[in-house]
Amino acid sequence: MAKVESLGIKRLESVHYYVHDLERSRRFYTEVMDFAEIGESSDELTREGRQKSVAFLAGNCAVVCIAPRGEGGRAARWLRKYPDGVGTLNFEIEDADKAFRLLEGRGGTPIDDVRRVKDERGNEIAYFSITTPFGDTTFRFVERHGYRALGPGFEMYDRPRGGSNRLGFVGFDHTTSNFATLGHVSLWLEHVMAFERFWEIQFHTQDVDPSHQHGSGLRSLVYWDPHSGVKFANNEPWRPNFRASQINIFCEELRGPGVQHLAIAVGDIIPCVRMLRERGLKFMPTPGTYYDMLPARLEKLGIGAIDEDLAVLRELEILVDGDGPGKYLLQIFLKESSGLYKEEAAGPFFFEIIQRKGDQGFGAGNFRALFESIERAQEGQLQGAQ
Ligand SMILES: [Fe+2]
Repeated sequence: MAKVESLGIKRLESVHYYVHDLERSRRFYTEVMDFAEIGESSDELTREGRQKSVAFLAGNCAVVCIAPRGEGGRAARWLRKYPDGVGTLNFEIEDADKAFRLLEGRGGTPIDDVRRVKDERGNEIAYFSITTPFGDTTFRFVERHGYRALGPGFEMYDRPRGGSNRLGFVGFDHTTSNFATLGHVSLWLEHVMAFERFWEIQFHTQDVDPSHQHGSGLRSLVYWDPHSGVKFANNEPWRPNFRASQINIFCEELRGPGVQHLAIAVGDIIPCVRMLRERGLKFMPTPGTYYDMLPARLEKLGIGAIDEDLAVLRELEILVDGDGPGKYLLQIFLKESSGLYKEEAAGPFFFEIIQRKGDQGFGAGNFRALFESIERAQEGQLQGAQ
């Protein structure tokens, strides 16, 4: 089969995140995550779109939080159906007309035609959006020629407010999404988006559970755009215990498929996590048994020695995974928003923080290792009680 022609994606530029409490998001991004607040929707755009947008930036990670102002806007429509979540992924692209032609010719579904707008200096932006199999999440493609604002009607501040990226965020490493079934998603990513299969894995933890009653499984297909390096990990639940699969639970909580997490790459994860913990941010918990088992696991994975002090990783609950001598990654997952705020409407989305040290995987080994260590910790508690 002939190679599917590349769309000319340059990078994942930003995400649109629909929220019902914009002030809470502002505090989260500027005070906890140390993002700078860089701009907002003009009064006119806010009125026309019936929603207020505020943009936050750290490194190359831009997040635009959008809350309804009245009825009928996209944020209001999203929040009537779903909890807070990622509504749009914005890709910077080389040539919007070309990408539009390629996408439409391959069965993509544009929502609008390519729009071209110039700013007061004559710099141009061209953009359009398409629907996707990622639930109601849309993809937008943006071609820029010196156009600085995020989009028309957006007012960028002369002086950014809030944080200054002391956590060292570099950019988005990957996007992970969950689905009830993956077949159509992989066909769409391959044939419409011209992404290629990067990696696949399936695993179940039933064999680890002594009773064989519990355990959870998932199948994961990772796609990437070889042109830009943009990566998408996509999961579906795997039987047995299909309903208990964290992928199924996510889809039930979001009320459909969609983006589960965005991974942010950092240069040095230890000071980053330390600072975030000092600010009171909550992460997914890791039992101490994970670290008891870690030296043997690193040996088995063939990683051998790592640069970090195990006691520090244990203290901060940072996870390690990898494959081969000296090739590993360090990662940690924030608690999902609904857990952070103890509020269902805040949604099941969360951020991952990742530092790569030669490994190109996604930390799949940690799924099993965490399950094993939780089982081990529960056994210990049972024995202690006897
Ligand atoms: Fe991830």
